[in-house]
Amino acid sequence: MSEKRRRSWAEPFKIKMVEPIKMTTRAEREAAIREAGYNTFLLKSEDVYIDLLTDSGTSAMSDRQWAGMMLGDESYAGSRNFYHLEAAVREIYGYKYVVPTHQGRAAEHILSQITIKPGDVLPGNMYFTTTRLHQELAGGSFVDVIIDEAHDPASEHPFKGNVDLRKLQAVIDEHGAGKIPYVCIATAVNMAGGQPLSLANLKAVRELCNRYGIRVIHDATRVAENAYFIKDREPGYARKTIAEIVREICDQTDGCTMSAKKDALVNIGGFLALNDEALFDAARNMVVVYEGLHTYGGMAGRDMEAVAIGLHESIDYEHIKARVGQVLYLGRKVQEFGVPIVVPIGSHGVFLDAKAFLPHLDQDVYPAQALAAEIYLDSGVRAMERGNVSAGRDPQTGRNRRPNLELVRLTIPRRVYTQAHMDVVAESVAEVYDQRTAIKGLKMVYEPAQLRFFQARFEPL
Ligand SMILES: Cc1ncc(COP(=O)(O)O)c(C=O)c1O
Repeated sequence: MSEKRRRSWAEPFKIKMVEPIKMTTRAEREAAIREAGYNTFLLKSEDVYIDLLTDSGTSAMSDRQWAGMMLGDESYAGSRNFYHLEAAVREIYGYKYVVPTHQGRAAEHILSQITIKPGDVLPGNMYFTTTRLHQELAGGSFVDVIIDEAHDPASEHPFKGNVDLRKLQAVIDEHGAGKIPYVCIATAVNMAGGQPLSLANLKAVRELCNRYGIRVIHDATRVAENAYFIKDREPGYARKTIAEIVREICDQTDGCTMSAKKDALVNIGGFLALNDEALFDAARNMVVVYEGLHTYGGMAGRDMEAVAIGLHESIDYEHIKARVGQVLYLGRKVQEFGVPIVVPIGSHGVFLDAKAFLPHLDQDVYPAQALAAEIYLDSGVRAMERGNVSAGRDPQTGRNRRPNLELVRLTIPRRVYTQAHMDVVAESVAEVYDQRTAIKGLKMVYEPAQLRFFQARFEPL
């Protein structure tokens, strides 16, 4: 099609309030990153120009969500906003019972405590940091059953989030179904680069688990984004709505943990949703210990209202097309500069392949961490490490896990930045790529015992 006849699409919203952001000098950024121990989590946000640390809790809420905040019913018990949230979860995801929590990891905590016994194993399609930690704290151990392609940044497999059924079968054969409280299935797998799983694969997982009476629990954090890829790539789904696909995904599973801070377009919130009444009872008993009464969990009434509205907005086709479209735009722009990234471009961010970017650095000098710091130094763009630091140490050997994927995540908040911001980001990454041979690694000088990536400190080598 000629350039003249091209039909562009654009964001299905207009901007009615703006938040100024600060530009900094290179000298200011050098001081800031040094003070932050070369860890972008420890930067002050006011020292950041374009903040692509995470898409978690960083979305812009809609006018309807803000209006909903004014309708917060802040009663201790039985807030009307809880019932709106419960109705939205039932209508959109189809799960029967809802336990509100302050964010996703609180739902993971409760689920882990009520289902996992010491010695249990938890198969899943790649680990997520907080999910695995809560499984381990409850005495379980995580086993990765994602397809091999997910660990290869260059594999173009359209559903790199798929489960390898032979791997799952092998875990069942080795440990027995009695040792597997549930199989954890994430949609739009974060640590793999926002890679979707197909409904055909999920249905096969369901079938296998049915044969052994094993539950399937869904990490639904980015289910709408996964649904978009299914509509786009999986035969037979092009004419289905995002709502229908989301529902079909959830229907294959027995419940979900949810960080509402992503798909559901809120700054805080989450829930555990279940179909099994006995399990729900146990979760309800547990939530009062750690979060609050079962009709608010860790949330204010106004926050539950914003989640309820955000869940509906998350399945709007124009919204999700623009959301994933912006990620694709940035990814293609970065690729045009020859920068190695995880392909296919994922749902919520562009993941730079730090091993290919910095082949001269050993993984134990933390190339992805060093690269994230360099990008910040170049332009004030904040990214996040998702590699050897995030993977942590093997509890048995005490050694760094040295995962195959050593990535820097440029994560795009929803409805926050413009295409021009994406251009600036891509140009900065390209600039750092041109200077890549001069980049040295980092030494970890402070290492927290858990989830070390959040607070670890480094020094340049
Ligand atoms: C896939 C996935 N699961 C769970 C979580 C944990 O959620 P939260 O940060 O709300 O505790 C996150 C968020 O980072 C996530 O991306």
